[in-house]
Amino acid sequence: MRNFAGLPGARLAALCDADPQRLARSAAQVPGARAVARVEEIAADPAVQGVVVAASAVSHYPLAKLLLEAGKDVFVEKPLALTVEDAEALVRLARDRDRILMVGHLLLHHPGVRYLKDLVRKGDLGEIYYIYSQRVNLGKVRRDENALWSFAPHDLSVILHLLEAEPVDVAARGAAFLQEGVEDAVFLHLRFPGGPMAHVHVSWLDPHKLRKFTVVGSQKMVVFDDMEASEKVRIYDKGIDRAGQIVSYGDALSVRSGDIMIPKLSLKEPLRLECQHFVDCVREHRRPLSDGADGLRVVRVLAAAQRSLAAGGAPVALAGQPVGAR
Ligand SMILES: NC(=O)c1ccc[n+]([C@@H]2O[C@H](COP(=O)([O-])OP(=O)(O)OC[C@H]3O[C@@H](n4cnc5c(N)ncnc54)[C@H](O)[C@@H]3O)[C@@H](O)[C@H]2O)c1
Repeated sequence: MRNFAGLPGARLAALCDADPQRLARSAAQVPGARAVARVEEIAADPAVQGVVVAASAVSHYPLAKLLLEAGKDVFVEKPLALTVEDAEALVRLARDRDRILMVGHLLLHHPGVRYLKDLVRKGDLGEIYYIYSQRVNLGKVRRDENALWSFAPHDLSVILHLLEAEPVDVAARGAAFLQEGVEDAVFLHLRFPGGPMAHVHVSWLDPHKLRKFTVVGSQKMVVFDDMEASEKVRIYDKGIDRAGQIVSYGDALSVRSGDIMIPKLSLKEPLRLECQHFVDCVREHRRPLSDGADGLRVVRVLAAAQRSLAAGGAPVALAGQPVGAR
């Protein structure tokens, strides 16, 4: 709301919350906008072109469906939906109605992730060997989704974006300590076509506050640490080089530990960039960076991970397909 109220090219026309107290609090912050309790009123308003669905995850699918059917362009917070079938239905609906469907994969709009993607695209890191990410804190414990569905969409969207592929399989182990059946901490392991692997650790029950990716390539290694105030990306010219000809085992591998580079990044707020992107896509009727297909790919991995959790960590197979570069 804060961002949309101040963006060029858009006017915050209305806001909706089913909770009257929350609605009143929000309405006081943007007095120019209509405040309504039922989303149907927004769906029926011909002056509204695009709608942001930032309600609880269980309501993403029904709200997005209703709004797409009403002919609106829709930005849905992550995760796009809670089942693969629902996510597929939204992608189909947006395509059939020729509407924009964008998913709140916030990190794809982050200047640090954009920089990382450029490094990978240019081949600066060499072959990607593996990626791991940590998204843990002592934070908002949810009741209607576990830590996997609440946090991992961020990590998965970045990993799929960097590797431009869906995993071959996913294995997940986790545990519910605070509420029965709602995992507080989850460890995910993914294998990708051609060899790369990824590991994701998410938790809302942890003493650390970490939001960090480490990417290990054959040429260089990169750390993206979103908790750093400004120096969020560090590129390490580190690796293990192989000797050209076969010598003794001990001489064949040499450690390279070179410079560390810290690039200057834009400090623009990622959420603002994401909101501006939605406005631009609506105005120009173009495909968002994080579109419905992207949201669906992430939901597929989450759903497979949930099955693996239920099966005690047994790997669950996925398509393992490359996806188009953007
Ligand atoms: N991208 C990010 O970094 C990020 C960060 C935080 C939250 N989120 C996402 O934003 C969404 C909201 O998160 P939150 O922490 O604000 O949740 P919240 O539970 O605090 O707020 C959700 C609000 O939606 C309202 N609501 C629920 N169903 C509704 C309906 N059918 N019609 C109208 N209003 C309805 C509730 O009354 C509540 O005020 C979630 O999907 C979450 O995953 C994303």
